[in-house]
Amino acid sequence: MDRKRIGILTGGGDAPGLNAVIRAVTVKGISLGYEVVGFKDGWRGLLKQQHRPLTLADVEDIHMLGGTILGSSRTNIAKVENGFEIAKKNLADAGIYALIAAGGDDTLGVALKLYRENFNVIGVPKTIDNDVNATDYTFGFDTAINRVCEFMEMLRTTTKSHSRVMVVEIMGRHAGWIGLHGGMAGGAHMILIPEVEVKLSDICQMVKRRYESGNTWAIIAVSEGAIIPEIMEEVSHSSQLDSFGHVQLGTGKGIAENLAHVIERETGYETRSIVLGHLQRGGNPSAFDRVLGTRLGIHAVEMIDKGQFGMMASLKGGEMKEVHLEEAVGSLRTVEPYKYDDAKLFFS
Ligand code: F6P
Repeated sequence: MDRKRIGILTGGGDAPGLNAVIRAVTVKGISLGYEVVGFKDGWRGLLKQQHRPLTLADVEDIHMLGGTILGSSRTNIAKVENGFEIAKKNLADAGIYALIAAGGDDTLGVALKLYRENFNVIGVPKTIDNDVNATDYTFGFDTAINRVCEFMEMLRTTTKSHSRVMVVEIMGRHAGWIGLHGGMAGGAHMILIPEVEVKLSDICQMVKRRYESGNTWAIIAVSEGAIIPEIMEEVSHSSQLDSFGHVQLGTGKGIAENLAHVIERETGYETRSIVLGHLQRGGNPSAFDRVLGTRLGIHAVEMIDKGQFGMMASLKGGEMKEVHLEEAVGSLRTVEPYKYDDAKLFFS
């Protein structure tokens, strides 16, 4: 009998740990007698029938590398005319029995739709934002917060030397996990996230209090999607939406630059801003993300073997579990207010 072929693709913003998933799917798949095929650039490669077989040699040691050897895109099949028909035909032509889609809410949402179109799909949760429901953590997040922490530590010396305020813009359009954890670990004096609205006057008062008490410097961590009502009109985003309807933040004059300008005007203290941007998800994955990606990849193949389709491999209480894709998609896992309150204790 022919060996069954299984496919894998990686969609959305790349996250350190994706290559660990690809490696684990390939090694585990081959060990169970599957042929493994990688689709290029997420859903786009499926629509364009761009794929290649993955061998053990192709994936050797790639778990140590950032990015994704398969490439990624923010292609939404639902926005393409007859998209699902094309995808199913291409999968049939390529002889694919089951497909593993590694991605965040958008990619997994398409995976669910494809499953509802009667294809054998398994999801693997991925995003540096850590905002996918029904899993404790997503890989990429640990690497991102370690990057943020390191950059914040570097910023401390220059900020302090110049007695400045530094506003650090951190990724997170809807969920403030990277800002919260990166800011906590990196010793921010205030953290601003999308889930909690903070008044401009409270931010300026914190800065003034610090300077007046002799600490003549401050670092403020701000998520790119944070809400500070008084300055929101000034914050410009690209008017372009991606195929999932998200505005592009971090382009144009974003929240950090505006906030820095206003803090300097209101307090009189010299203020600078920096956008950490894509440095947060570039480079090689942390050990935690290598291991999490590996465990998820192995589990996803085991799920194929058991026929657990329409489901996502997930980390729950330290164990690998299966959850229905419906539980994972459609809404984002945002920061609970009590977790922000813990961080607030150290704002000063
Ligand atoms: O979803 C991951 C993420 O890095 C977000 O934190 C960020 O807002 C977005 O992607 C940036 O997208 P792009 O890489 O398309 O600029």
